Amino acid sequence: MTLDFLGTLQRTQMCGELRAEDAGRDVVLMGWVNRRRDHGSLIFLDLRDRSGITQVVVGEQTAEAHAKAEAARPEYVVAVKGRVRQRAAGLNNPNMVTGEIEVVAEELLLLNESKTPPFSPSEDAIANEEVRLKYRYLDLRRAGMQENLALRSRVAMAIRNYLVGEGFLEIETPFMTRSTPEGARDYLVPSRVHAGQFYALPQSPQIFKQILMISGFDRYFQVARCFRDEDLRADRQPEFTQIDLEMSFPQQDTIFRVAEGFLTAAFAAGGVALKTPFLRMTYDDAIKNYGIDKPDMRLPAMVSLSDVLTPELRTTLRIEQELPVLGFVIPGVGELSGTARKALLSEVRAGFGDCGLDLLDVARLKTNVEFAPLAEAIEAKLSGSDPTHDVDTIMNGAPGLITKSNVSTPKSDADLIIVVTPKIGTPTMWNFDPQWIWKRVGALRLQLGVKYAEKHGRFAKTGTETDFKFCWVTDFPMYEWDEEAKVWNAAHHPFTSPHEDDIAAGRLTNDKGAVRALAYDIVLNGTELGSGSIRIHRQDVQAEIFRSLGMTDAEAKDRFGFFLDALEYGTPPHGGIALGLDRIVMILAGATSLREVIAFPKTAKAIDLMVDAPTPVSEQQLRELHLRVR
Ligand code: AMO
Repeated sequence: MTLDFLGTLQRTQMCGELRAEDAGRDVVLMGWVNRRRDHGSLIFLDLRDRSGITQVVVGEQTAEAHAKAEAARPEYVVAVKGRVRQRAAGLNNPNMVTGEIEVVAEELLLLNESKTPPFSPSEDAIANEEVRLKYRYLDLRRAGMQENLALRSRVAMAIRNYLVGEGFLEIETPFMTRSTPEGARDYLVPSRVHAGQFYALPQSPQIFKQILMISGFDRYFQVARCFRDEDLRADRQPEFTQIDLEMSFPQQDTIFRVAEGFLTAAFAAGGVALKTPFLRMTYDDAIKNYGIDKPDMRLPAMVSLSDVLTPELRTTLRIEQELPVLGFVIPGVGELSGTARKALLSEVRAGFGDCGLDLLDVARLKTNVEFAPLAEAIEAKLSGSDPTHDVDTIMNGAPGLITKSNVSTPKSDADLIIVVTPKIGTPTMWNFDPQWIWKRVGALRLQLGVKYAEKHGRFAKTGTETDFKFCWVTDFPMYEWDEEAKVWNAAHHPFTSPHEDDIAAGRLTNDKGAVRALAYDIVLNGTELGSGSIRIHRQDVQAEIFRSLGMTDAEAKDRFGFFLDALEYGTPPHGGIALGLDRIVMILAGATSLREVIAFPKTAKAIDLMVDAPTPVSEQQLRELHLRVR
């Protein structure tokens, strides 16, 4: 079959637009054949474009069109000229917005053909992600990917509009620059003109945005591409996009208000109304309640059970006297069978290895007259004291566990109670990191939370604001001790201001572990969405921070001399934040990988399977760049 030319034909409607009231209209639709059903004298083509699908009917009386419809195959590109009509009674398709009408073709043009695709863009379930990524152009035709990228576009635009409305200027900063330290490796670009010299792609626009504040721009933002050569995970890509902003003379609150404002606009673009202000907690409280600096508050917090354990009980149960006993609840797990309970106990205990932690078998305690009151006290404490939750809505049943659930509780609603105890005379993890127990138990809480909660659909996206638990985590420590390298590293980045009190008290030199940073994260459902800080605006403080991080003045001058110079010309107090656009859209779309919301992502091995990058380059190119591959 020969292909037709488009000629002067113009599309009048998109495929998703027609409704019952359009019956009788003459229209021209163009798009892809999603499906073709051949009933002999009648051929049905489902015509698809990005807006949706319309059913086209081609009858024998339009012989030429009918012959072309016979030749058409899935993914052929066609144009249809025809008249809209209401479908016959009983033939409506309630699953399609255009399901009440169809277009009766008068003319059909075959504009292009298609090889048989390796998978059908009309199907939702596509198993192999490698194939999807290799044929990304087909994968992107799928309704889900079209929706995700449309959502991404709306979200970015809503954020731009909000920030421009708040007086921010969008300013681009360079891709070919010097290294910006954000804790990852740099992607380097060799210079042809300057033999042996390299640009670095920015890990973030951090230094440039601070320089823009020195230059008096007062409020900057950018939808900024960043590049980081780091180990990839589902929520990390080697190139990703930040909503990056910086403000002069802000209080921390000012920045929170702006970020909450644009997130509200972004989520509204995704059909979700958010309530602000978001909850705030200090880093120390996050560790105490959740054992992690990015708490997932869809599950109840951990609770200290230390006060229900008398010293005598501790001795009897072989629990360390001075260390915390922590418990938590995973709601709605359902009553566990004896076997499941045993399996769970031994799985968790095996996971502890010999780190000195153990699980308290609350169910067993309950059956023992001596310990029953303790078991009850534990249950009471865990069911009633979650600092951040409306316990009634979270705890939809009486606490069960590992203990057996209250008889009146429907089985499916019984909660899982976990109590973790430090064993007497065990290793010294906690001497090394006093917060270690909280972190370890917090990790268990997440592990079990995901295991049971996902199984029970609790983390499913239902599109209400209660599914999106935001919080600010503040007062991060300034430094992190790297035990292997025996050095202090900047916990955020080295431009973050320490607490003014900690500078005044001389802790930068005397007591680095106790220095708090004016740094904050914004967290959503256990994912770090963004990070920021109030910056150092004084050259003397910046130089001291570099020194405290083990950099000599000469090294600091070599790496950041231009910046230290700039700080000396009237730098205003300033601060800002950057949020991952990819992560925002991922969570809003209910996706579990950034690849679902990036048009052309890379695999976990940092490969673009479609264009096949990275690749070797020719000898000639290497020579021009003064490079030799080892
Ligand atoms: P940070 O390094 O915390 O801070 O990055 C801010 C946010 O960017 C997103 N992000 C990523 N998203 C996808 N893939 C990655 N590999 C990746 N790395 C980071 C996250 C993260 O929270 N300049 C500072 C910000 C500032 O201080 O203003 C910075 O880049 O959502």
